[in-house]
Amino acid sequence: MDAPMNSNSISLTRFFLAEQKKAPKATGELTQLLASIQTAVKTISSAVRRAGIIQLFGTAGNTNVQGEEVKKLDVLANELFINLLKSSYTVAILISEENETVIEVETEQQGKYVVAFDPLDGSSNIDCLVSIGSIFAIFKKSDNSIPKINEPLLSGHNVVAAGYALYGSATMMVLSTGNGVHGFMLDPTIGEFILTDYNMKIPSKGNIYSINEGYTHQWDGAILEYVQNKKDPSKGKPYNARYVGSMVADVHRTIKYGGIFVYPATTSSPRGKLRLLYECIPMAYIVSQAGGSASNGKIPILDIQPSNIHERSPIFLGSTDDVNEILDIIKKHEKKG
Ligand code: AHM
Ligand code: MG
Repeated sequence: MDAPMNSNSISLTRFFLAEQKKAPKATGELTQLLASIQTAVKTISSAVRRAGIIQLFGTAGNTNVQGEEVKKLDVLANELFINLLKSSYTVAILISEENETVIEVETEQQGKYVVAFDPLDGSSNIDCLVSIGSIFAIFKKSDNSIPKINEPLLSGHNVVAAGYALYGSATMMVLSTGNGVHGFMLDPTIGEFILTDYNMKIPSKGNIYSINEGYTHQWDGAILEYVQNKKDPSKGKPYNARYVGSMVADVHRTIKYGGIFVYPATTSSPRGKLRLLYECIPMAYIVSQAGGSASNGKIPILDIQPSNIHERSPIFLGSTDDVNEILDIIKKHEKKG
């Protein structure tokens, strides 16, 4: 039976217009920027849903800066983000996982924001219809001036908003502009994101660990000890293992159900795999806004000063008690030397 239509539902645009009204100094630029990201995400969602039919699966025949194969959907998603952000008149600099260097917006179109994004994350899951996502962080200089291409990179302390889109069994956008985390589900019948998850809060402790255990032989002693503890009934009720291999899906589940997501340093990736500017920092911002924690094993992810745009970092993210538990084990191992 069809559910009755809601004549007063809160769309993403309506929500952020109301937020903007609450901030007396707001110029509307951030709302404009979020609207352009929303359009990119809707278009990517539509392409993801029809990719098999309109021949968007497979590879585009070249590799990106990380030496990975580029999928056709990656290329489309990247072009959508770039074109829509440039034409929003709100952004000076774009940083994309798919582009080796930063993209400077032409002076006439420039605004005060820097946006870092991974247009389509979880590429290995595209062709088998497992959830994928888009991730972004919006940065602003503390003096509100227009950032220049040759200036030092902005850090987690300059984030004014971050979010992700999950193309899962439904399409969902989860966003924070510094006033909590809110989730909006795409209603395909009207093409609008509707507020479904107001003020999302991550449980302080969960019962799920999420890590690629295929790399066990490459972990250091602390990670080995933590994961072993989580499976050992003598150390408490064992945790469940869940690992999608798409960061957006793994982080979304961690926010909803609690627990921990870990991508540690391994012997083959001593700095971890995930990239700071468009994977770790946006997710750390959202998880912190939802009451959770995110660390590189030593310091909070949001305190790291990135020195290059594709810099990687280990990440321990999720319920605060679970993150603290692994950080204590790391400290204990460091003391032992
Ligand atoms: P991608 O940006 O090339 O898609 O890689 C990032 C993805 C994340 O979504 C996920 O958490 C991780 O890579 C999985 O890596 P692995 O297959 O090594 O476990
Ligand atoms: Mg990625």
